Amino acid sequence: MALAVIARTGAAIYHLGMQTQTSNPATITPMLTTARKVVVHSAGGYDRLKLETCAMPVPGRDQVRIEVRAIGVNYADTIVRMGLYASAKEYVGWPITPGFEVSGVVAAVGAGVTDLAVGTEVFAVTLFGGYSSQVVVDRGRVFRRPPALSFEQAAALPAVYMTAWYALFELAHPRPGQRVLVHSAAGGVGSALVQMAKLVGCEVTGVVGKSAKVAAVKTLGADHVIDKSTQDLWREAERIAPDGYDLVLDANGVSTLGASYKHLRRAGKLVVYGFHSMMPKTGGKPNWPMLAIDYVRTPRFNPMDMTNNSHSVLAFNLSYLFDRVELLHEAMAQIVGWLETGKIAPPTVTTYPLAEVARAHADIESGQTIGKLVLLP
Ligand SMILES: NC(=O)c1ccc[n+]([C@@H]2O[C@H](COP(=O)([O-])OP(=O)(O)OC[C@H]3O[C@@H](n4cnc5c(N)ncnc54)[C@H](OP(=O)(O)O)[C@@H]3O)[C@@H](O)[C@H]2O)c1
Repeated sequence: MALAVIARTGAAIYHLGMQTQTSNPATITPMLTTARKVVVHSAGGYDRLKLETCAMPVPGRDQVRIEVRAIGVNYADTIVRMGLYASAKEYVGWPITPGFEVSGVVAAVGAGVTDLAVGTEVFAVTLFGGYSSQVVVDRGRVFRRPPALSFEQAAALPAVYMTAWYALFELAHPRPGQRVLVHSAAGGVGSALVQMAKLVGCEVTGVVGKSAKVAAVKTLGADHVIDKSTQDLWREAERIAPDGYDLVLDANGVSTLGASYKHLRRAGKLVVYGFHSMMPKTGGKPNWPMLAIDYVRTPRFNPMDMTNNSHSVLAFNLSYLFDRVELLHEAMAQIVGWLETGKIAPPTVTTYPLAEVARAHADIESGQTIGKLVLLP
Protein backbone atom coordinates (compact mmCIF):
# COMPACT_ATOMS: atom_id res chain seq x y z
CA MET A 1 0.00 0.00 0.00
CA ALA A 2 2.86 2.39 0.77
CA LEU A 3 3.91 2.00 -2.84
CA ALA A 4 0.37 2.63 -3.98
CA VAL A 5 0.36 5.79 -1.91
CA ILE A 6 3.57 6.85 -3.59
CA ALA A 7 2.21 6.15 -7.05
CA ARG A 8 -0.83 8.29 -6.39
CA THR A 9 0.97 11.19 -4.74
CA GLY A 10 4.31 11.22 -6.46
CA ALA A 11 5.69 11.01 -2.94
CA ALA A 12 9.02 9.66 -1.78
CA ILE A 13 9.59 6.87 0.74
CA TYR A 14 12.45 6.37 3.18
CA HIS A 15 13.01 2.81 4.25
CA LEU A 16 14.00 1.49 7.64
CA GLY A 17 17.63 2.00 8.45
CA MET A 18 18.31 4.37 5.56
CA GLN A 19 20.12 7.49 6.68
CA THR A 20 18.61 9.69 4.04
CA GLN A 21 19.33 13.41 4.05
CA THR A 22 16.57 15.65 2.85
CA SER A 23 17.14 17.77 -0.22
CA ASN A 24 16.18 20.89 1.76
CA PRO A 25 19.27 22.87 2.75
CA ALA A 26 19.71 24.11 6.31
CA THR A 27 19.42 27.72 5.29
CA ILE A 28 16.64 30.10 6.25
CA THR A 29 14.52 31.75 3.58
CA PRO A 30 15.33 35.47 3.98
CA MET A 31 12.80 38.31 4.22
CA LEU A 32 9.70 36.13 4.62
CA THR A 33 6.80 38.03 6.19
CA THR A 34 4.09 35.40 5.91
CA ALA A 35 3.66 31.69 6.61
CA ARG A 36 1.31 28.99 5.32
CA LYS A 37 -0.67 26.72 7.56
CA VAL A 38 -3.51 24.22 7.40
CA VAL A 39 -6.56 25.57 9.21
CA VAL A 40 -9.68 23.63 10.20
CA HIS A 41 -12.46 26.10 10.95
CA SER A 42 -15.10 23.56 11.96
CA ALA A 43 -15.42 19.80 12.37
CA GLY A 44 -15.82 17.68 9.26
CA GLY A 45 -14.31 15.77 6.37
CA TYR A 46 -11.27 16.34 4.18
CA ASP A 47 -12.70 19.56 2.68
CA ARG A 48 -12.22 21.21 6.08
CA LEU A 49 -8.42 21.15 5.66
CA LYS A 50 -7.76 24.64 4.25
CA LEU A 51 -4.25 25.79 3.35
CA GLU A 52 -4.11 29.49 4.30
CA THR A 53 -1.59 32.30 4.44
CA CYS A 54 -1.01 33.94 7.81
CA ALA A 55 1.28 36.51 9.42
CA MET A 56 4.74 35.28 10.36
CA PRO A 57 4.56 34.04 13.98
CA VAL A 58 6.95 35.74 16.40
CA PRO A 59 8.68 33.81 19.19
CA GLY A 60 8.07 35.12 22.69
CA ARG A 61 10.35 34.72 25.68
CA ASP A 62 11.98 31.26 25.83
CA GLN A 63 10.48 30.37 22.45
CA VAL A 64 11.92 29.46 19.08
CA ARG A 65 10.57 29.94 15.55
CA ILE A 66 11.27 26.98 13.31
CA GLU A 67 11.20 27.21 9.54
CA VAL A 68 9.57 23.86 8.96
CA ARG A 69 11.01 21.25 6.62
CA ALA A 70 8.75 18.31 7.50
CA ILE A 71 5.61 17.64 9.56
CA GLY A 72 4.58 14.32 11.09
CA VAL A 73 1.01 13.11 10.49
CA ASN A 74 -0.67 11.15 13.27
CA TYR A 75 -3.94 9.25 13.26
CA ALA A 76 -5.06 11.60 16.04
CA ASP A 77 -4.88 14.55 13.59
CA THR A 78 -7.84 13.07 11.71
CA ILE A 79 -9.83 12.88 14.94
CA VAL A 80 -8.94 16.52 15.60
CA ARG A 81 -10.31 17.40 12.14
CA MET A 82 -13.53 15.49 12.91
CA GLY A 83 -13.94 17.50 16.12
CA LEU A 84 -13.74 14.44 18.39
CA TYR A 85 -10.35 15.00 20.03
CA ALA A 86 -11.03 16.13 23.58
CA SER A 87 -7.72 17.86 24.30
CA ALA A 88 -7.94 19.84 21.03
CA LYS A 89 -11.28 21.22 22.14
CA GLU A 90 -9.96 21.87 25.63
CA TYR A 91 -6.70 23.60 24.67
CA VAL A 92 -7.50 25.25 21.32
CA GLY A 93 -11.12 25.06 20.08
CA TRP A 94 -11.93 26.36 16.57
CA PRO A 95 -10.26 27.22 14.30
CA ILE A 96 -7.41 24.79 14.83
CA THR A 97 -4.22 23.86 13.01
CA PRO A 98 -3.53 20.16 13.70
CA GLY A 99 -0.05 18.73 14.15
CA PHE A 100 2.04 17.39 17.02
CA GLU A 101 5.54 17.38 15.52
CA VAL A 102 7.81 19.15 13.05
CA SER A 103 11.43 19.32 11.99
CA GLY A 104 13.22 22.27 10.44
CA VAL A 105 15.75 25.02 10.96
CA VAL A 106 15.74 27.59 13.75
CA ALA A 107 14.77 30.88 12.08
CA ALA A 108 14.44 33.17 15.10
CA VAL A 109 14.80 32.93 18.87
CA GLY A 110 12.98 34.84 21.59
CA ALA A 111 14.52 36.50 24.63
CA GLY A 112 16.12 34.03 26.99
CA VAL A 113 17.08 31.45 24.38
CA THR A 114 20.87 31.35 24.43
CA ASP A 115 21.68 27.76 23.55
CA LEU A 116 20.12 27.45 20.08
CA ALA A 117 21.43 29.62 17.26
CA VAL A 118 19.55 30.62 14.14
CA GLY A 119 20.35 27.99 11.50
CA THR A 120 20.41 25.02 13.92
CA GLU A 121 18.64 21.95 12.51
CA VAL A 122 16.03 20.73 14.95
CA PHE A 123 12.86 18.77 15.55
CA ALA A 124 10.13 19.65 18.02
CA VAL A 125 6.87 18.59 19.61
CA THR A 126 3.88 20.90 19.40
CA LEU A 127 0.52 20.80 21.16
CA PHE A 128 -1.35 21.19 17.86
CA GLY A 129 -0.27 23.83 15.32
CA GLY A 130 2.33 21.71 13.54
CA TYR A 131 0.77 21.76 10.04
CA SER A 132 2.51 25.03 9.19
CA SER A 133 5.53 26.34 7.28
CA GLN A 134 6.63 28.31 10.38
CA VAL A 135 6.06 27.14 13.92
CA VAL A 136 6.72 28.87 17.24
CA VAL A 137 7.41 26.46 20.08
CA ASP A 138 8.85 26.58 23.59
CA ARG A 139 12.61 25.99 23.67
CA GLY A 140 12.08 23.06 26.05
CA ARG A 141 10.26 21.12 23.33
CA VAL A 142 12.94 21.58 20.68
CA PHE A 143 15.72 19.03 20.08
CA ARG A 144 18.74 19.09 17.80
CA ARG A 145 18.24 16.90 14.73
CA PRO A 146 20.50 13.84 14.99
CA PRO A 147 22.71 13.75 11.89
CA ALA A 148 21.64 10.16 11.26
CA LEU A 149 18.05 11.25 10.65
CA SER A 150 16.70 13.13 7.66
CA PHE A 151 14.32 16.02 8.34
CA GLU A 152 11.48 13.71 7.26
CA GLN A 153 12.50 10.99 9.71
CA ALA A 154 13.04 13.51 12.52
CA ALA A 155 9.54 14.97 12.03
CA ALA A 156 8.08 11.46 12.11
CA LEU A 157 9.79 10.56 15.36
CA PRO A 158 8.48 12.29 18.49
CA ALA A 159 4.77 11.43 18.73
CA VAL A 160 4.91 7.72 17.97
CA TYR A 161 8.26 6.93 19.61
CA MET A 162 7.24 8.90 22.71
CA THR A 163 3.93 7.05 22.81
CA ALA A 164 5.65 3.68 22.58
CA TRP A 165 8.27 4.71 25.14
CA TYR A 166 5.63 5.93 27.60
CA ALA A 167 3.49 2.80 27.20
CA LEU A 168 6.41 0.44 27.68
CA PHE A 169 8.78 2.17 30.09
CA GLU A 170 6.58 4.49 32.13
CA LEU A 171 3.58 2.15 32.39
CA ALA A 172 4.21 -1.50 31.53
CA HIS A 173 7.89 -2.16 32.37
CA PRO A 174 8.25 -5.33 30.26
CA ARG A 175 10.94 -7.81 31.24
CA PRO A 176 13.19 -9.94 29.01
CA GLY A 177 11.46 -13.07 27.77
CA GLN A 178 7.95 -11.79 28.39
CA ARG A 179 5.33 -12.30 25.71
CA VAL A 180 4.05 -9.04 24.21
CA LEU A 181 1.23 -8.64 21.70
CA VAL A 182 1.16 -5.42 19.64
CA HIS A 183 -1.99 -4.60 17.65
CA SER A 184 -1.64 -2.51 14.45
CA ALA A 185 2.05 -3.41 14.51
CA ALA A 186 2.93 -1.91 11.10
CA GLY A 187 1.57 1.55 11.96
CA GLY A 188 3.37 4.54 13.41
CA VAL A 189 3.09 3.67 17.11
CA GLY A 190 2.97 -0.08 16.43
CA SER A 191 6.32 -0.05 14.59
CA ALA A 192 7.96 1.75 17.50
CA LEU A 193 6.39 -0.62 20.05
CA VAL A 194 7.64 -3.72 18.23
CA GLN A 195 11.19 -2.38 18.10
CA MET A 196 11.31 -1.18 21.71
CA ALA A 197 9.80 -4.39 23.08
CA LYS A 198 12.41 -6.39 21.13
CA LEU A 199 15.12 -4.10 22.53
CA VAL A 200 14.13 -5.23 26.03
CA GLY A 201 14.32 -8.89 24.97
CA CYS A 202 10.60 -9.64 24.82
CA GLU A 203 9.00 -12.22 22.53
CA VAL A 204 6.90 -9.98 20.31
CA THR A 205 3.79 -10.87 18.35
CA GLY A 206 2.67 -8.18 15.92
CA VAL A 207 -0.88 -8.11 14.57
CA VAL A 208 -1.70 -6.53 11.21
CA GLY A 209 -4.90 -6.08 9.22
CA LYS A 210 -3.43 -6.64 5.77
CA SER A 211 -1.01 -9.16 4.26
CA ALA A 212 1.11 -6.42 2.66
CA LYS A 213 2.12 -5.31 6.17
CA VAL A 214 3.52 -8.66 7.34
CA ALA A 215 7.01 -8.23 5.86
CA ALA A 216 7.41 -4.76 7.40
CA VAL A 217 6.64 -6.08 10.89
CA LYS A 218 9.06 -9.00 10.45
CA THR A 219 11.73 -6.49 9.40
CA LEU A 220 11.10 -4.59 12.63
CA GLY A 221 12.08 -7.74 14.50
CA ALA A 222 8.75 -9.26 15.54
CA ASP A 223 9.02 -12.97 16.42
CA HIS A 224 5.52 -13.70 15.14
CA VAL A 225 3.14 -11.79 12.89
CA ILE A 226 -0.58 -12.49 12.81
CA ASP A 227 -2.34 -11.33 9.66
CA LYS A 228 -5.96 -10.74 10.66
CA SER A 229 -7.02 -10.64 7.02
CA THR A 230 -6.07 -14.30 6.48
CA GLN A 231 -5.81 -15.77 9.99
CA ASP A 232 -8.09 -16.12 12.99
CA LEU A 233 -6.47 -13.52 15.28
CA TRP A 234 -7.20 -15.09 18.66
CA ARG A 235 -6.77 -18.74 17.65
CA GLU A 236 -3.32 -17.85 16.32
CA ALA A 237 -2.56 -15.69 19.38
CA GLU A 238 -3.42 -18.67 21.64
CA ARG A 239 -1.24 -21.02 19.60
CA ILE A 240 1.73 -18.64 20.04
CA ALA A 241 1.12 -18.00 23.76
CA PRO A 242 -1.01 -20.78 25.27
CA ASP A 243 -0.71 -19.26 28.77
CA GLY A 244 -1.57 -15.77 27.57
CA TYR A 245 0.41 -12.56 27.15
CA ASP A 246 2.34 -10.60 29.75
CA LEU A 247 1.52 -7.42 27.89
CA VAL A 248 -0.98 -6.40 25.20
CA LEU A 249 -0.87 -2.96 23.59
CA ASP A 250 -4.22 -2.02 22.10
CA ALA A 251 -5.32 1.13 20.25
CA ASN A 252 -8.13 -0.64 18.38
CA GLY A 253 -10.66 -0.15 21.13
CA VAL A 254 -13.98 -1.94 20.90
CA SER A 255 -13.02 -4.45 18.19
CA THR A 256 -10.34 -6.18 20.31
CA LEU A 257 -10.23 -4.68 23.79
CA GLY A 258 -12.30 -7.35 25.53
CA ALA A 259 -10.39 -10.23 23.93
CA SER A 260 -7.05 -8.49 24.55
CA TYR A 261 -7.89 -8.45 28.26
CA LYS A 262 -9.00 -12.10 28.23
CA HIS A 263 -5.69 -13.13 26.64
CA LEU A 264 -3.56 -11.73 29.46
CA ARG A 265 -1.73 -14.26 31.60
CA ARG A 266 -1.61 -13.88 35.38
CA ALA A 267 -0.03 -10.51 36.28
CA GLY A 268 -0.50 -9.47 32.67
CA LYS A 269 -1.02 -5.84 31.67
CA LEU A 270 -3.24 -4.31 29.01
CA VAL A 271 -2.19 -0.85 27.81
CA VAL A 272 -5.03 1.03 26.12
CA TYR A 273 -4.02 4.08 24.09
CA GLY A 274 -6.57 4.56 21.29
CA PHE A 275 -9.93 3.58 19.86
CA HIS A 276 -9.48 3.72 16.09
CA SER A 277 -11.78 0.78 15.31
CA MET A 278 -14.71 3.08 16.19
CA MET A 279 -13.93 5.22 13.16
CA PRO A 280 -14.81 4.61 9.50
CA LYS A 281 -12.01 3.80 7.07
CA THR A 282 -13.47 5.87 4.23
CA GLY A 283 -15.41 9.11 3.90
CA GLY A 284 -13.64 11.15 6.57
CA LYS A 285 -16.68 11.56 8.82
CA PRO A 286 -17.88 9.66 11.87
CA ASN A 287 -20.77 7.26 11.51
CA TRP A 288 -22.68 8.64 14.50
CA PRO A 289 -25.02 5.67 15.13
CA MET A 290 -22.09 3.21 14.93
CA LEU A 291 -20.00 5.47 17.14
CA ALA A 292 -22.73 5.49 19.78
CA ILE A 293 -23.14 1.70 19.59
CA ASP A 294 -19.37 1.16 19.80
CA TYR A 295 -19.15 3.52 22.77
CA VAL A 296 -21.73 1.41 24.61
CA ARG A 297 -20.00 -1.84 23.53
CA THR A 298 -16.55 -0.72 24.73
CA PRO A 299 -15.63 -2.96 27.69
CA ARG A 300 -15.72 -1.58 31.23
CA PHE A 301 -13.23 -3.47 33.35
CA ASN A 302 -14.33 -4.65 36.77
CA PRO A 303 -11.86 -3.94 39.60
CA MET A 304 -12.85 -7.13 41.42
CA ASP A 305 -12.19 -9.26 38.33
CA MET A 306 -8.96 -7.40 37.76
CA THR A 307 -7.84 -8.10 41.32
CA ASN A 308 -8.83 -11.76 41.27
CA ASN A 309 -7.26 -12.33 37.85
CA SER A 310 -4.20 -10.20 38.66
CA HIS A 311 -4.76 -8.25 35.47
CA SER A 312 -3.92 -4.57 35.09
CA VAL A 313 -5.41 -2.08 32.64
CA LEU A 314 -3.32 1.02 32.00
CA ALA A 315 -4.22 3.93 29.75
CA PHE A 316 -2.97 7.36 28.76
CA ASN A 317 -3.19 10.21 26.26
CA LEU A 318 0.13 11.97 25.73
CA SER A 319 -1.51 15.25 24.70
CA TYR A 320 -2.55 15.70 28.32
CA LEU A 321 1.04 15.16 29.43
CA PHE A 322 2.46 17.97 27.32
CA ASP A 323 3.67 19.85 30.41
CA ARG A 324 5.76 16.90 31.59
CA VAL A 325 8.86 18.30 29.93
CA GLU A 326 11.17 16.20 32.13
CA LEU A 327 9.56 13.02 30.77
CA LEU A 328 9.89 14.31 27.22
CA HIS A 329 13.61 14.91 27.71
CA GLU A 330 14.22 11.57 29.40
CA ALA A 331 12.39 9.75 26.63
CA MET A 332 13.96 11.66 23.79
CA ALA A 333 17.50 11.20 25.13
CA GLN A 334 16.96 7.45 25.32
CA ILE A 335 15.23 7.21 21.94
CA VAL A 336 17.87 9.28 20.12
CA GLY A 337 20.60 7.23 21.83
CA TRP A 338 19.03 3.99 20.58
CA LEU A 339 18.71 5.42 17.07
CA GLU A 340 22.29 6.66 17.00
CA THR A 341 23.66 3.31 18.14
CA GLY A 342 21.47 1.41 15.67
CA LYS A 343 19.48 -0.36 18.41
CA ILE A 344 16.26 0.84 16.81
CA ALA A 345 15.63 2.09 13.29
CA PRO A 346 14.14 5.43 12.26
CA PRO A 347 10.52 5.43 11.15
CA THR A 348 9.65 4.33 7.65
CA VAL A 349 8.32 7.51 6.04
CA THR A 350 6.02 8.29 3.13
CA THR A 351 5.92 11.98 2.17
CA TYR A 352 3.17 14.21 0.78
CA PRO A 353 3.23 17.89 -0.21
CA LEU A 354 1.45 19.98 2.46
CA ALA A 355 -1.13 20.92 -0.16
CA GLU A 356 -2.09 17.22 -0.31
CA VAL A 357 -2.85 17.00 3.39
CA ALA A 358 -6.35 15.72 2.62
CA ARG A 359 -4.88 12.74 0.77
CA ALA A 360 -2.58 12.02 3.71
CA HIS A 361 -5.58 12.05 6.07
CA ALA A 362 -7.58 9.77 3.77
CA ASP A 363 -4.63 7.37 3.54
CA ILE A 364 -3.99 7.12 7.29
CA GLU A 365 -7.74 6.69 7.90
CA SER A 366 -7.87 3.89 5.33
CA GLY A 367 -5.94 1.58 7.66
CA GLN A 368 -3.66 0.60 4.79
CA THR A 369 -0.52 2.63 5.49
CA ILE A 370 2.80 1.34 6.79
CA GLY A 371 5.00 3.42 9.09
CA LYS A 372 4.59 7.20 9.19
CA LEU A 373 3.19 9.80 6.82
CA VAL A 374 4.97 13.14 6.61
CA LEU A 375 3.92 16.46 5.03
CA LEU A 376 6.42 18.71 3.25
CA PRO A 377 5.52 22.44 3.42
N1 LIG B 1 -2.81 7.74 23.69
C1 LIG B 1 -1.87 8.44 23.07
O1 LIG B 1 -1.19 9.28 23.66
C2 LIG B 1 -1.62 8.17 21.61
C3 LIG B 1 -0.52 8.75 20.96
C4 LIG B 1 -0.32 8.44 19.61
C5 LIG B 1 -1.22 7.60 18.95
N2 LIG B 1 -2.28 7.10 19.62
C6 LIG B 1 -3.24 6.19 18.96
O2 LIG B 1 -2.49 5.12 18.44
C7 LIG B 1 -3.13 4.61 17.30
C8 LIG B 1 -2.14 4.53 16.17
O3 LIG B 1 -1.79 5.84 15.77
P1 LIG B 1 -0.82 6.07 14.53
O4 LIG B 1 -0.78 7.53 14.28
O5 LIG B 1 0.45 5.36 14.79
O6 LIG B 1 -1.64 5.38 13.34
P2 LIG B 1 -1.28 4.08 12.47
O7 LIG B 1 -1.10 2.94 13.42
O8 LIG B 1 -0.14 4.43 11.59
O9 LIG B 1 -2.57 3.86 11.61
C9 LIG B 1 -3.74 3.33 12.18
C10 LIG B 1 -3.81 1.78 12.03
O10 LIG B 1 -4.86 1.32 12.85
C11 LIG B 1 -5.46 0.16 12.29
N3 LIG B 1 -6.94 0.30 12.24
C12 LIG B 1 -7.81 -0.59 12.73
N4 LIG B 1 -9.05 -0.19 12.58
C13 LIG B 1 -9.00 0.99 11.96
C14 LIG B 1 -10.00 1.89 11.54
N5 LIG B 1 -11.32 1.67 11.70
N6 LIG B 1 -9.60 3.01 10.95
C15 LIG B 1 -8.29 3.27 10.76
N7 LIG B 1 -7.29 2.44 11.17
C16 LIG B 1 -7.66 1.30 11.77
C17 LIG B 1 -4.84 -0.02 10.91
O11 LIG B 1 -3.84 -1.04 11.06
P3 LIG B 1 -4.22 -2.60 11.15
O12 LIG B 1 -5.44 -2.81 10.29
O13 LIG B 1 -3.00 -3.27 10.62
O14 LIG B 1 -4.48 -2.88 12.60
C18 LIG B 1 -4.17 1.32 10.65
O15 LIG B 1 -3.09 1.22 9.77
C19 LIG B 1 -4.34 5.53 17.02
O16 LIG B 1 -5.49 4.96 17.58
C20 LIG B 1 -3.96 6.79 17.76
O17 LIG B 1 -5.07 7.56 18.13
C21 LIG B 1 -2.50 7.37 20.92
